[in-house]
Amino acid sequence: MKTRLTELLGIEYPIIQGGMAWASEALLAAAVSNAGAAGIIGAGGRTGEWLKAEIAKTKALTEKPFGVNVMLMAPNVDEIVEIVCQEKIAFVTLGAGNPVPFFEKFHANGVKVIPVVPSVKLAKRVQDSGADAIVIEGMEAGGHIGTQTTMALMSNVIPQVKIPVVVAGGISDGRAMAAALLMGAAGVQMGSRFILTTECNMHENAKQKIIAATDTDSAVTGYSRGHGVRGLKNSFTEMFLARERAGAPQDELNTMATGTNKKAAIEGDVEQGLVQVGQSLNVLNDIKPCQDVVATIIKEARATLANACNIEL
Ligand SMILES: Cc1cc2nc3c(=O)[nH]c(=O)nc-3n(C[C@H](O)[C@H](O)[C@H](O)COP(=O)(O)O)c2cc1C
Repeated sequence: MKTRLTELLGIEYPIIQGGMAWASEALLAAAVSNAGAAGIIGAGGRTGEWLKAEIAKTKALTEKPFGVNVMLMAPNVDEIVEIVCQEKIAFVTLGAGNPVPFFEKFHANGVKVIPVVPSVKLAKRVQDSGADAIVIEGMEAGGHIGTQTTMALMSNVIPQVKIPVVVAGGISDGRAMAAALLMGAAGVQMGSRFILTTECNMHENAKQKIIAATDTDSAVTGYSRGHGVRGLKNSFTEMFLARERAGAPQDELNTMATGTNKKAAIEGDVEQGLVQVGQSLNVLNDIKPCQDVVATIIKEARATLANACNIEL
């Protein structure tokens, strides 16, 4: 399958595995890249030492291109950027902060830059500053989210920019991927679908809770703190949302939210931690190797696109 994203990254299929703090390490990134898509190591919340070790492991497992997701507001962002540049990583996705000041350094080291942007205005700004592509991520996504849906972002942003647009948020099968391509996307980014793989390190308790969940089982916490976080409804979300509704102070909410992703993903506490996952829950129902996930999605996307071509116009 050939699109502007496959050309840009030198990959076989226009799929990026979204960077996921505590859930996308070397094994997952390498398996996704070996399957013909683009894997990403999630550097959010991690030390430079950890990242260096994961990059070394990934390079030992694949010769294909892979990326690193950099959280720009991390206290150690300069160290992470330095490592990415020294290691000549194929590309970065950049979120949570202003990506523009980092473009020059990445480009000087041959690293392609793909910021995650929430609006037309920011999409144009990063394009004009030299971004190689962008990710637009709708509020259907797992993890930290904005306020626009994937469909609204595709409608608003894609016709306004010239660089390739990668669409994320609620895309977990080939039909949804085909829909994004029909809307003019150059590719898709998926997070939740890649959690349910044999290579993802997320705790088995969290994986099983995702499999058991259906369409209305996720909730968004934190809108009152300025940024929502989507995850599965549980004791934590119930308690947190009650405190948000009661107008609890920001300090209290920040303390309550801190560490909940790790608690679920690593420790397997799926009641007091937050299992971050997107809304396409009914199609997230089996754990497979990345190779099978990518092959199934591509087969389904091809069938959906071929079927769309059969519609009598
Ligand atoms: C568990 C989890 C952790 C995530 N962590 C990050 C992160 O550290 N940085 C980031 O830019 N996006 C993060 N995301 C968003 C993903 O990269 C991706 O854009 C999103 O999962 C796409 O929507 P989907 O979950 O419906 O596939 C995370 C998503 C999940 C599910």
